[in-house]
Amino acid sequence: MRTQVGIIGAGPAGLMLSHLLHLQGIDSIVLENRSRKEIEGTIRAGVLEQGTVELLKGTGVGERLVKEGSVHHGIELQFNGRRHRINMNELTGGKSITVYAQHEVIKDLVASRLHDGAQIYFDVRDVRLLDIETSSPKIRFRKDGVEEEIECDFIAGCDGYHGPSRKSIPESERKEFKHTYPFGWLGILAEAPPSNPELIYSNHESGFALISTRSIDIQRYYLQVDPSEHIENWSDDRIWTELHKRVDLKDWKLNDGPIIQKNIVSMRSFICETMQYGRLYLAGDATHIVPPTGAKGLNLAIADVQVLSNAMKKYYHEQQTELLTRYSEICTRRVWKAQRFSAWMTRMLHRNFEHSPFEYGLQLAELDLVTSSQSAAKSLAEQYVGLPLEY
Ligand code: APR
Ligand code: PHB
Repeated sequence: MRTQVGIIGAGPAGLMLSHLLHLQGIDSIVLENRSRKEIEGTIRAGVLEQGTVELLKGTGVGERLVKEGSVHHGIELQFNGRRHRINMNELTGGKSITVYAQHEVIKDLVASRLHDGAQIYFDVRDVRLLDIETSSPKIRFRKDGVEEEIECDFIAGCDGYHGPSRKSIPESERKEFKHTYPFGWLGILAEAPPSNPELIYSNHESGFALISTRSIDIQRYYLQVDPSEHIENWSDDRIWTELHKRVDLKDWKLNDGPIIQKNIVSMRSFICETMQYGRLYLAGDATHIVPPTGAKGLNLAIADVQVLSNAMKKYYHEQQTELLTRYSEICTRRVWKAQRFSAWMTRMLHRNFEHSPFEYGLQLAELDLVTSSQSAAKSLAEQYVGLPLEY
């Protein structure tokens, strides 16, 4: 087999890249080791920045997002038993975010790609990258027990943190940074009506809680837990007791209902600044992980492939390599700012039980400042709706 761009991974990064390349008349093949059903059913994040929404809409994959997504003009921060609204719309000159689950974005992208005749191979095994330092890199894999090879001009590694792409870059060439946070998130999906028109990020002395939504009858809630916690220790009753304690106010109670899904994830930051090596280009979780408090993971993946597809367009249609050469530099600058924002939101909102009362006092003062100073709130709002993609 031969294609122009061999894409490993059918997450938001890989699928969107394939879609954007197709719109430029550039051919790609996508390889995914899970089934279509699995990628379309995995519960992940759900906040789309203004720029992500515009890109999806502007490239013809935003129809369902417009119908079913929920546009939010603000978020609420809760601490010391009081709730404070950050009016993102006013603070950013009219911008907003849209709550629309990541697996719904996946469904829309897969449907669109298949409708346009894309080659997506699901359930592939044993994906290997070869000759990435040459002008003719190759991907080998097995499909239904048969060994296959794709020869391409470029390989896009969109295969998440654990995929083989990043590891194909010699360790000595990779510049990586890691940080782990002493926090985990227990996430649930519950059958209940929405409790609030906007997301609530609550700093409570027992720990952080986040109230998000999915639809008029399914809600998404998160609780800060110890990262080593096991989900078996969290009965539905225990989850509701803790959620009510951390978000309820005198005149406001969280809507609860049957829990239909629950899991625990740990929180970390990771950046591989070497986003390009030879003819291999990394995008999305394959090259950076952010803690979910800033809601940036999916949006960073989409921003990477926006830059990459433009760079490839310049290469194929204008014989220009400048943007391809600058790919790592352009993306990592923005990724570092998103890391900074995500780490800041994480530290401001979570309860660190190792901290002294003084340090907790500073944390509450930070929340007080952000919710009372227009310029501090503006900075949060600008980053939450998404910094511009500059290059
Ligand atoms: N071969 C083929 N595909 C692979 C392999 C492999 N060896 N390893 C992983 N994959 C696939 C995964 O199954 C997954 O579908 O690569 C895909 C990577 O997708 P994501 O993990 O969703 O990563 P990305 O597309 O970068 O999206 C960014 O935003 O909200 C965040 O972390 C969240 O998924 C999210 C991300
Ligand atoms: C979600 O709805 O899944 C969500 C919302 C906001 C976040 C993280 C996750 O910061």
